[in-house]
Amino acid sequence: QEHLAHWRSQAKRELVMLFPSTAAFGLLLSGTPHPPLAVRVRPTMSLDPADWKLLSRRDQVDGALTLAAAEAGTEAQVVTVTIPRSDDAPSLGLLLDEIATSGDAGIVAVEGLVEGGNGEKATAPLLPGDALVAAAEEGKPTTGVSLEGLPFDSVVERLSSLSSAVGVVVSVKRLVRKPRATVTVRFPEAEGREDARMTLYQGANLRRAMLSSGVALNDPLARRFDAGVGTGDCGGEGTCCTCAVEVAKGLDALSEPSSQEVQMVAKRFPRWRLACKATLGPIEQDEEIVLKVQPRNWDGFYRDDEVDVDGEPLARDGKR
Ligand code: FES
Repeated sequence: QEHLAHWRSQAKRELVMLFPSTAAFGLLLSGTPHPPLAVRVRPTMSLDPADWKLLSRRDQVDGALTLAAAEAGTEAQVVTVTIPRSDDAPSLGLLLDEIATSGDAGIVAVEGLVEGGNGEKATAPLLPGDALVAAAEEGKPTTGVSLEGLPFDSVVERLSSLSSAVGVVVSVKRLVRKPRATVTVRFPEAEGREDARMTLYQGANLRRAMLSSGVALNDPLARRFDAGVGTGDCGGEGTCCTCAVEVAKGLDALSEPSSQEVQMVAKRFPRWRLACKATLGPIEQDEEIVLKVQPRNWDGFYRDDEVDVDGEPLARDGKR
């Protein structure tokens, strides 16, 4: 208990001494250079509790909580580092902050590193905003303790149960900004409609995203390939082509088409995709995509002599 009380008061004291203001916080960061991060991994370094949500999973009988990103534009990635320590230097060298607490639940995050402390010698940099989720003695995974979703006192108590004579393997959840695509949706000239814009994240389905943004996809000139005659929306089965879009920009940012989709559209129109089958990604950086919906209805698509099943010209007067 004495050790625990000392640890906690020491952590708070260091917090007060080293972070009297945001300016001081910035100085400490600039004094601890980190290796450059890959484009895809852009940590938010936020200490705002609103950026997190705590989930209770039905399959967790012990009521354990899981930390997850609150916003669609960020995701929580697990980062595991080893912090060396010994009897001579038993401190973790981390400045911790309880950024949220409610009853038995809480979020404890790294606010900074003690200058010259063990935290600075971790096998990979720990960053402000990293939320503690687990710890174990180095080389002894059976000593592991969960720190996820716990308030400050519980985190400190569990950390204190680990031997201070050996290194500690610490896992944190780090919020990183997800790469995204800015999508511009263009409509046939005859509709005289303003472009629509959407922001999509990896894995988003084009058809679902457009429908939820109010973009109608029901191309009246499309037909089910398995129905012979007549039109119809297959509801995302990949059989009607009513959702076909021309990808004027950003084709490589979309998933690979299946062989069926290639047969249906891409073989004849290499820049077309079935929106119901196309998803965003994988992408490593932000992308820009331009879609033309109902590509058959754009001026100049049909020749003068092309007719529909009723023998009516497909090209609109004066727009052939
Ligand atoms: S909705 Fe029918 S092919 Fe996409």
